[in-house]
This record gives sequence, structure tokens and C-alpha cells, in this order.
Amino acid sequence: ANPSLLILAGDGIGPEVMNEVKRIIDWFGAKRDLAFDVSEDLVGGAAYDKHGVPLHDDTMAKAQSVDAVLLGAVGGPAYDNLDFSVKPERGLLRLRKEMDLFANLRPAQCFDALADFSSLKKDIVAGLDIMIVRELTSGVYFGEPRGIHMEDNMRVGINTQRYTEAEIERGARAAFELAMKRNKKLCSMEKANVMESGILWRDVVTEVHRDYPEVALSHMYADNGAMQLVRAPKQFDVIYTDNLFGDILSDCAAMLTGSLGMLPSASLGLPMANGRPKAMYEPVHGSAPDIAGQGKANPIACILSFAMALRYSFDQGAEADRLEAAIETVLADGARTADLMGPEGGVPLSTTQMGDAILTALDAS
Ligand code: NAI
Ligand code: MG
Repeated sequence: ANPSLLILAGDGIGPEVMNEVKRIIDWFGAKRDLAFDVSEDLVGGAAYDKHGVPLHDDTMAKAQSVDAVLLGAVGGPAYDNLDFSVKPERGLLRLRKEMDLFANLRPAQCFDALADFSSLKKDIVAGLDIMIVRELTSGVYFGEPRGIHMEDNMRVGINTQRYTEAEIERGARAAFELAMKRNKKLCSMEKANVMESGILWRDVVTEVHRDYPEVALSHMYADNGAMQLVRAPKQFDVIYTDNLFGDILSDCAAMLTGSLGMLPSASLGLPMANGRPKAMYEPVHGSAPDIAGQGKANPIACILSFAMALRYSFDQGAEADRLEAAIETVLADGARTADLMGPEGGVPLSTTQMGDAILTALDAS
């Protein structure tokens, strides 16, 4: 049977950028003999409109049964005043939680043609291709005790950084597996100098390393890591870090490369019976209500998310390379959606025209 994909396009520009991904998926079926069983369903505001909930139970069950989920984006002004329990974001959170997607992969990849877009000097970022693996389901965002309490007539805000060995280990395994598929280089970031959880983190990652002797492992304090990411990001390949540090470091790394319209992500869980990890792929950006319905959205973040699916769910690294190379080609040829244009302007491509350009480059590959 063909591998199965569930597409949840969502709201705003979600369906617009996902349309281009669907054309790319069709291309792989027709031209590379790589067909997928694609099904589609609703998430976010679109699901709320139909079902009164941002994710229907049937959709949740489908997501659990497919090989990979591709998600567009959720949310928008029409849903801003809904009760918290049915907000579009809750659909996304439910997917992440029930699929137990504990490893969040955020690549920071700088296409040469866009190096001028970086917040940094061109030579520091040109050719950059790193991957941050952020632990997503534990740590200080979830640890107990938490709350705001009274102590000696003063309010005290409390959060707890808490990690079990098992939590550190499963994320570490995901990061090492990734390192094996890339350049066999992994840097683990924590603050073992001041945090108990950091000491345990370093310990467990070192233990897991025994199963991956081919990977060159290094450890770095996360504050130094932030500095090094800005000073010389190309020294890294895969970075493994906790939920809080990963939140900050991945946003920092994202700005090394430029536009939000270019950034993909993956969230992975435990291996399923067929050996593939539970997985959801989505662009980092949201539903962009300011440009929704105008055909202006850049589809590349969503297309690159599909490339990640090819690489990390379907072991089609060469085909993922092909797709990324096609994107590199069209950018080098000057193809730009509006978000990729500087103040000098010009006539931007529409979402569909960018999709056309990438398909043409794929045909020529
Ligand atoms: P956003 O990412 O939707 O937009 C931020 C800015 O970037 C906007 O100016 C937008 O036009 C631009 N932008 C984003 N993606 C683009 C693309 N592919 N091509 C061209 N320009 C693009 O974030 P914002 O405005 O904070 O949130 C809008 C809505 O999206 C909210 O309802 C928010 O809750 C939701 N959201 C959903 C996320 C998700 O589904 N994972 C993530 C972030 C926000
Ligand atoms: Mg963040």
C-alpha cells in the first residue's frame, strides 16, 4: 500500500499554501512513482464552523492512523473571541498532545539567494543548514508545582523545570537518529553549570550516545549556544535542547534565515508498528489573516514541510533533496513572493505562480 498522508489545511492562508503542496504531491506520484494515499479533513476554525470543536474525534482518530499529518495553519480574527476550550489553537495542541509529539524539529536553512534577508552578515549565514530539536512535551512549561502563591504577604510566581530520564532519552534518540540521517554531528545544550535538570540532561545524552558511536557529540551551555548561533552558526549541525531553551534558540535561529514564509517544522513522536515515527509537519507561520484570500502567501514553508516528511517519515532523502534543490533554483532565478521582496519592489509572484515555478524546476530536475 502507498504511504498515507492526512492533510489538515486549516484556516486563512493554510488552504492556499496547501493547494501548492497538493500539486507537488501529485507531481511525485506522476513523475517519481512515489504515490501517497492522501485524505483531507478540517482543523481549527474550519472544524469549529462545521462541528463546533476545533478538532473532531474522527479527525483525531485519522491522525493517529496515518503515516504522517501535514498541517497548514489555524486561527483568525473570526475566532479570537471564542471560549478558550474551542479556540482553533486547541485543535493543534490536541494533535500534539494525543500523538505525543515530543521532538520538535526546526531547521534553519539559508538559501543562498536569500542570504541578504538575514539579520546577520551574508558570509555568516550563506549556506547555513542546521536543525534544532526541541523537547516539546515536558520541562518548565509543564512541571509541577506551578502557580502564583502568597508567601509573607507577597505574591510568588512558581514554575518547575522537571525532566525524567525517559523524557530526555526519547528526545535524545530522535536527535541522534536525525544526526545519523544528516552529518553525524550533534550538540546538546543545557545549563549543567547551574541546573540539576541540566546535569541529568548531559548524563542521559552521554549514555544514549553509546548507541550512536558514529555521531560526534558535544555539549554546550545554552547561553553560550545562543551566542554561538549568532556568532558562527555554521559550526552546528543538529542541536538537541529542552523545551524552554529550544523555544528561544529556535526563534533566534529562525531569524538567521529571513522570512517566516520560508520556515518549515516537524513534530515527531514514538515509532509506530511500521517503524515510522508518529509525525506532523507544518510551516512555522500562522494563518496570516492580513493577506489571506489574496493569493499572496508564500507556499515555500509548507512545501519545505512536505520535504521534511519525505526525509523523516518516508526515507526519501534523495527526493527531499530534489524538492529543496528545485526551490533553491527558482529563488536563484529571482522568483519572489511579496514577503521575499525588499523595498526596491518589483512585481511579486502569486502563491500559485510560485507553485508553478517550483513544478517547472522539478520537471527539469
Ligand atoms: P502569522 O504567522 O500568521 O503572520 C505574521 C506575519 O507574517 C503576517 O504579516 C503575515 O502576513 C506574514 N506571513 C506569515 N506567513 C506568511 C507566508 N507564508 N507568506 C507571506 N507572509 C506570511 O502570525 P500572526 O499574525 O501572529 O497570527 C495570525 C493568526 O495565526 C492568529 O490567529 C494566530 O493565533 C495564528 N497562528 C497559528 C499558528 C499555527 O497554526 N501553527 C502559528 C502562529 C500563529
Ligand atoms: Mg517561540
